[in-house]
Amino acid sequence: MRIGILNGPNLNRLGTREPDTYGSETLEDIINGCVTFLAANGGTLQHVQTNHEGVAIDTIHQWGDESLDAIIINPGAWTHYSYAIRDAIASIQVPVLEVHLSNIHQREAFRHQSVTAAVCVGQIAGLGADGYKLALQYFIDKIRGGME
Ligand code: DQA
Repeated sequence: MRIGILNGPNLNRLGTREPDTYGSETLEDIINGCVTFLAANGGTLQHVQTNHEGVAIDTIHQWGDESLDAIIINPGAWTHYSYAIRDAIASIQVPVLEVHLSNIHQREAFRHQSVTAAVCVGQIAGLGADGYKLALQYFIDKIRGGME
């Protein structure tokens, strides 16, 4: 079972970035927890964090071409306006689940819209770092049960 996690812009600053909104765990802490959790379930995790939209698009294409079993994406601010990220997700066969640490629907109006969620299997928002693990658990169960 191969799962990719793609984190978009500014998520490398977790830990010190607006901790009241995003928590005090660093991205490294979160990803290490995910690596351990997935390994305990017999899977391997690939992780990319990038502040560059083109790199994110290339990563989505690459993981699509490599037929990973699933992708978890936190597109950061791209969520709200990037049709290019949306089109990249729509261009691959691999199921993608969108995760946000904060509840974007409780925040500024510009964050209420996700242009990417409609091409994802679903969205988890507002559960902090647990959202990544819950997304992994969802895919682990789906893949074990045979993804439809
Ligand atoms: C975020 C929410 C976005 O609105 C914001 O731009 C981020 C992080 C989240 O995880 O809550 O960078 O995606």
